Amino acid sequence: MNEVYAKLIRCLEDVRRITDFEPEVALVLGSGLGDYADGIKVECEIDYHDISGFPVSTVPGHAGKFIFGYVGDVKVVCMKGRVHFYEGYPISDVVLPCRLMKLMGAKVLFVTNASGGINPAFSGGDFMMITDHVAAFTPNPLIGPNIDELGTRFPDMSHVYDLELQDIIRSSAKKLGIKLQEGVYAQLTGPSFESPAEIRMLGIMGVDAVGMSTAVEAIAANHMGMKVCGISCVCNLAAGIQKTALTHDEVQAAAAEAAPKFKALITESILKIKDVI
Ligand code: HPA
Repeated sequence: MNEVYAKLIRCLEDVRRITDFEPEVALVLGSGLGDYADGIKVECEIDYHDISGFPVSTVPGHAGKFIFGYVGDVKVVCMKGRVHFYEGYPISDVVLPCRLMKLMGAKVLFVTNASGGINPAFSGGDFMMITDHVAAFTPNPLIGPNIDELGTRFPDMSHVYDLELQDIIRSSAKKLGIKLQEGVYAQLTGPSFESPAEIRMLGIMGVDAVGMSTAVEAIAANHMGMKVCGISCVCNLAAGIQKTALTHDEVQAAAAEAAPKFKALITESILKIKDVI
């Protein structure tokens, strides 16, 4: 059996030894949203360390866990903590958690992240619904022998971010009176922030916001036939646009400030997702 697939199945077996919960929606909690799951009706939690071979964050004390529960009557699994490619994990490990959540039962992948704004109409603190991505600066997570059990060799990526789910997020933001930007997200590897020249290049390419996650997970999820949607918190204006130096602390502070609205938008959207799955 393909090694990557064999590892995934071992992880699934470990999960199933602990819970038979079958989530409908998989939610990846980005910066500032770590405590989102405190507000849901929790059924079960699994520490990532209890899943053999599961990639855990290299930041001490930030390993993370799966939290299973209900948002309204929607069954969800939340990822509190995730690994990034820049931590040194192979790209197959970076997407393993999303693949695993699909095998647990999730039909929808809802990704959230922090980004730097490139579109001149954006301000720090804006939310951007991801309508498409540029993933050409990271290795493609589907490189290697195709895992036929998961999906096809050459998957179409015309609509990675599901159009119905986009409508749901739009109408949820409108209902809550939350300003919602829309645009193209580019994933770069990090961990260094981009140079101003790179940001100018991305702007010319039609990129609206840049970050260090998400696009590879979205590719792997689309490969498996999941419906994907994503919202990015534009925590800062990208290098060269913002005149001050970028810091991780600044990104985290902006994400924390945006968190209450972000959580409300996620909850409202998840409640409506029930209608399309
Ligand atoms: N660049 C890359 N990733 C980020 C940024 C940025 O400006 N802000 C938050 N995450």
